[in-house]
Amino acid sequence: MKFFIDTANLAEIQEAHNLGILDGVTTNPSLMAKEGIKGQENINAHYQAICHIVDDNVSAEVIATDFEGMVKEGEALAALSPKIVVKVPVTQEGIKAIRYFSDKGIRTNCTLIFSAGQALLAAKAGATYVSPFIGRLDDVSQDGTELIAQIVAIFSNYQFSTQVLAASVRHTMHLIQCAEIGAHVATCPLKVITGLLNHPLTNNGLQKFLADYAKSQA
Ligand code: G3P
Repeated sequence: MKFFIDTANLAEIQEAHNLGILDGVTTNPSLMAKEGIKGQENINAHYQAICHIVDDNVSAEVIATDFEGMVKEGEALAALSPKIVVKVPVTQEGIKAIRYFSDKGIRTNCTLIFSAGQALLAAKAGATYVSPFIGRLDDVSQDGTELIAQIVAIFSNYQFSTQVLAASVRHTMHLIQCAEIGAHVATCPLKVITGLLNHPLTNNGLQKFLADYAKSQA
Protein backbone atom coordinates (compact mmCIF):
# COMPACT_ATOMS: atom_id res chain seq x y z
CA MET A 1 0.00 0.00 0.00
CA LYS A 2 1.33 3.42 -0.96
CA PHE A 3 1.10 6.30 1.52
CA PHE A 4 0.68 9.79 0.08
CA ILE A 5 0.44 12.93 2.21
CA ASP A 6 -2.45 15.28 1.43
CA THR A 7 -0.98 18.73 1.96
CA ALA A 8 1.01 21.49 0.31
CA ASN A 9 2.85 22.29 3.57
CA LEU A 10 6.57 21.77 2.95
CA ALA A 11 7.46 21.16 6.62
CA GLU A 12 4.83 18.40 6.91
CA ILE A 13 5.92 16.85 3.62
CA GLN A 14 9.54 16.88 4.83
CA GLU A 15 8.53 15.33 8.16
CA ALA A 16 6.58 12.54 6.44
CA HIS A 17 9.48 11.97 4.05
CA ASN A 18 11.87 11.73 6.99
CA LEU A 19 9.76 8.87 8.39
CA GLY A 20 10.90 6.86 5.38
CA ILE A 21 7.41 5.69 4.46
CA LEU A 22 6.23 8.39 2.06
CA ASP A 23 5.38 7.46 -1.54
CA GLY A 24 3.95 10.74 -2.78
CA VAL A 25 2.01 13.95 -2.24
CA THR A 26 -1.45 15.08 -3.27
CA THR A 27 -2.39 18.72 -3.47
CA ASN A 28 -5.43 20.60 -4.66
CA PRO A 29 -6.21 24.30 -5.17
CA SER A 30 -7.67 24.56 -1.64
CA LEU A 31 -4.51 23.09 -0.06
CA MET A 32 -2.29 25.46 -2.09
CA ALA A 33 -4.44 28.43 -1.02
CA LYS A 34 -4.15 27.29 2.62
CA GLU A 35 -0.37 27.72 2.34
CA GLY A 36 -0.87 31.24 0.93
CA ILE A 37 0.64 30.36 -2.47
CA LYS A 38 -0.65 32.89 -5.01
CA GLY A 39 -0.07 33.28 -8.75
CA GLN A 40 0.75 30.48 -11.21
CA GLU A 41 4.52 31.17 -11.13
CA ASN A 42 4.60 30.77 -7.35
CA ILE A 43 2.36 27.70 -7.57
CA ASN A 44 4.73 26.11 -10.08
CA ALA A 45 7.74 26.95 -7.89
CA HIS A 46 5.94 25.36 -4.94
CA TYR A 47 5.33 22.15 -6.93
CA GLN A 48 9.04 22.07 -7.75
CA ALA A 49 9.92 22.54 -4.08
CA ILE A 50 7.66 19.56 -3.23
CA CYS A 51 9.28 17.50 -6.01
CA HIS A 52 12.67 18.35 -4.51
CA ILE A 53 11.66 16.67 -1.22
CA VAL A 54 9.90 13.49 -2.37
CA ASP A 55 10.95 10.66 -4.68
CA ASP A 56 7.87 10.55 -6.95
CA ASN A 57 4.10 11.02 -7.33
CA VAL A 58 3.34 14.70 -6.83
CA SER A 59 -0.26 15.38 -7.88
CA ALA A 60 -0.73 18.85 -9.39
CA GLU A 61 -4.28 19.87 -10.32
CA VAL A 62 -5.45 21.63 -13.47
CA ILE A 63 -7.79 24.60 -13.04
CA ALA A 64 -9.23 24.74 -16.57
CA THR A 65 -12.53 22.95 -17.11
CA ASP A 66 -12.37 22.62 -20.92
CA PHE A 67 -10.35 19.96 -22.76
CA GLU A 68 -7.94 22.36 -24.50
CA GLY A 69 -7.30 24.28 -21.30
CA MET A 70 -6.72 21.10 -19.30
CA VAL A 71 -4.27 19.81 -21.91
CA LYS A 72 -2.35 23.09 -21.97
CA GLU A 73 -2.16 23.34 -18.18
CA GLY A 74 -1.47 19.63 -17.69
CA GLU A 75 1.41 19.62 -20.18
CA ALA A 76 2.92 22.68 -18.48
CA LEU A 77 2.60 21.00 -15.05
CA ALA A 78 4.09 17.72 -16.34
CA ALA A 79 7.03 19.68 -17.78
CA LEU A 80 7.92 20.94 -14.28
CA SER A 81 9.21 17.51 -13.21
CA PRO A 82 8.92 13.84 -14.19
CA LYS A 83 7.55 13.34 -10.66
CA ILE A 84 4.36 15.29 -11.48
CA VAL A 85 1.03 13.44 -11.82
CA VAL A 86 -1.59 15.65 -13.50
CA LYS A 87 -4.77 15.82 -11.45
CA VAL A 88 -7.93 16.13 -13.52
CA PRO A 89 -11.57 16.32 -12.36
CA VAL A 90 -13.95 13.55 -13.44
CA THR A 91 -16.04 15.48 -15.99
CA GLN A 92 -16.68 14.76 -19.68
CA GLU A 93 -13.87 17.16 -20.63
CA GLY A 94 -11.70 15.62 -17.92
CA ILE A 95 -12.18 12.10 -19.27
CA LYS A 96 -11.10 13.30 -22.73
CA ALA A 97 -8.06 14.96 -21.18
CA ILE A 98 -7.16 11.80 -19.25
CA ARG A 99 -7.27 9.79 -22.50
CA TYR A 100 -5.05 12.42 -24.15
CA PHE A 101 -2.50 12.40 -21.29
CA SER A 102 -2.56 8.61 -21.09
CA ASP A 103 -1.79 8.31 -24.81
CA LYS A 104 1.12 10.73 -24.32
CA GLY A 105 2.52 8.78 -21.35
CA ILE A 106 1.65 11.53 -18.84
CA ARG A 107 0.39 10.09 -15.53
CA THR A 108 -2.98 11.26 -14.21
CA ASN A 109 -4.93 11.30 -10.98
CA CYS A 110 -8.67 11.54 -11.66
CA THR A 111 -10.14 13.51 -8.78
CA LEU A 112 -13.52 14.28 -7.18
CA ILE A 113 -14.75 10.69 -7.63
CA PHE A 114 -17.94 9.91 -5.72
CA SER A 115 -19.29 6.88 -7.63
CA ALA A 116 -18.11 3.57 -9.06
CA GLY A 117 -19.29 4.62 -12.53
CA GLN A 118 -17.02 7.66 -12.48
CA ALA A 119 -14.07 5.49 -11.45
CA LEU A 120 -14.85 2.97 -14.21
CA LEU A 121 -14.87 5.67 -16.91
CA ALA A 122 -11.62 7.16 -15.61
CA ALA A 123 -9.99 3.71 -15.68
CA LYS A 124 -11.28 3.12 -19.23
CA ALA A 125 -9.68 6.44 -20.24
CA GLY A 126 -6.34 5.25 -18.84
CA ALA A 127 -6.09 7.12 -15.53
CA THR A 128 -3.08 6.16 -13.43
CA TYR A 129 -5.00 6.83 -10.21
CA VAL A 130 -8.64 7.45 -9.32
CA SER A 131 -9.37 9.42 -6.15
CA PRO A 132 -12.66 8.62 -4.39
CA PHE A 133 -13.20 11.13 -1.53
CA ILE A 134 -14.29 8.93 1.34
CA GLY A 135 -14.52 11.54 4.12
CA ARG A 136 -16.80 13.75 2.04
CA LEU A 137 -19.09 10.76 1.38
CA ASP A 138 -19.20 10.04 5.12
CA ASP A 139 -20.14 13.72 5.58
CA VAL A 140 -23.36 13.09 3.62
CA SER A 141 -24.17 9.79 5.38
CA GLN A 142 -22.82 7.52 2.63
CA ASP A 143 -20.16 4.97 3.63
CA GLY A 144 -17.01 6.10 1.79
CA THR A 145 -15.11 2.88 2.41
CA GLU A 146 -17.93 0.88 0.72
CA LEU A 147 -17.20 2.84 -2.45
CA ILE A 148 -13.49 1.97 -2.16
CA ALA A 149 -14.39 -1.74 -1.89
CA GLN A 150 -16.71 -1.49 -4.90
CA ILE A 151 -14.07 0.16 -7.10
CA VAL A 152 -11.30 -2.23 -5.97
CA ALA A 153 -13.58 -5.18 -6.93
CA ILE A 154 -14.45 -3.70 -10.35
CA PHE A 155 -10.82 -2.97 -11.22
CA SER A 156 -9.82 -6.45 -10.09
CA ASN A 157 -12.57 -8.08 -12.26
CA TYR A 158 -11.00 -6.62 -15.39
CA GLN A 159 -7.35 -6.30 -14.34
CA PHE A 160 -7.37 -2.52 -14.83
CA SER A 161 -3.92 -1.13 -14.09
CA THR A 162 -5.55 2.03 -12.65
CA GLN A 163 -4.84 2.31 -8.93
CA VAL A 164 -7.46 3.19 -6.32
CA LEU A 165 -6.22 6.20 -4.31
CA ALA A 166 -8.43 6.67 -1.26
CA ALA A 167 -8.65 10.43 -0.69
CA SER A 168 -10.31 12.63 1.91
CA VAL A 169 -9.05 10.13 4.49
CA ARG A 170 -9.77 11.81 7.81
CA HIS A 171 -8.75 9.37 10.56
CA THR A 172 -6.76 6.23 11.31
CA MET A 173 -9.76 3.86 10.99
CA HIS A 174 -10.30 5.09 7.43
CA LEU A 175 -6.67 4.19 6.73
CA ILE A 176 -6.92 0.72 8.30
CA GLN A 177 -10.21 -0.01 6.51
CA CYS A 178 -8.69 1.05 3.17
CA ALA A 179 -5.75 -1.28 3.80
CA GLU A 180 -8.12 -4.18 4.63
CA ILE A 181 -10.10 -3.55 1.46
CA GLY A 182 -6.96 -3.42 -0.67
CA ALA A 183 -6.87 0.23 -1.76
CA HIS A 184 -3.60 0.67 -3.63
CA VAL A 185 -2.93 4.11 -2.11
CA ALA A 186 -4.28 6.31 0.68
CA THR A 187 -3.67 10.03 0.96
CA CYS A 188 -4.18 11.82 4.25
CA PRO A 189 -2.82 14.52 6.57
CA LEU A 190 0.40 13.78 8.51
CA LYS A 191 -1.51 13.44 11.81
CA VAL A 192 -3.47 10.48 10.39
CA ILE A 193 -0.23 8.70 9.41
CA THR A 194 1.48 9.33 12.75
CA GLY A 195 -1.82 8.50 14.50
CA LEU A 196 -1.24 4.87 13.48
CA LEU A 197 1.55 4.78 16.07
CA ASN A 198 -0.63 5.81 19.00
CA HIS A 199 -1.33 3.15 21.60
CA PRO A 200 -1.42 3.71 25.37
CA LEU A 201 0.11 0.28 26.04
CA THR A 202 3.11 1.25 23.89
CA ASN A 203 3.51 4.54 25.76
CA ASN A 204 3.04 2.93 29.19
CA GLY A 205 5.29 -0.01 28.31
CA LEU A 206 8.08 2.29 27.17
CA GLN A 207 7.83 4.40 30.33
CA LYS A 208 8.08 1.21 32.44
CA PHE A 209 11.11 -0.06 30.49
CA LEU A 210 12.86 3.31 30.87
CA ALA A 211 12.03 3.48 34.61
CA ASP A 212 13.35 -0.06 35.20
CA TYR A 213 16.50 0.71 33.23
CA ALA A 214 17.04 3.86 35.33
CA LYS A 215 16.69 1.77 38.52
CA SER A 216 19.27 -0.71 37.24
CA GLN A 217 21.73 2.18 36.76
CA ALA A 218 21.21 3.65 40.27
O1 G3P B 1 -7.43 14.41 -1.30
C1 G3P B 1 -8.63 15.13 -1.26
C2 G3P B 1 -8.68 15.89 0.00
O2 G3P B 1 -7.79 16.98 -0.05
C3 G3P B 1 -10.01 16.31 0.43
O3 G3P B 1 -10.00 16.16 1.79
O4 G3P B 1 -10.78 16.51 4.07
O5 G3P B 1 -11.11 18.29 2.31
O6 G3P B 1 -12.45 16.21 2.25
P1 G3P B 1 -11.15 16.83 2.65
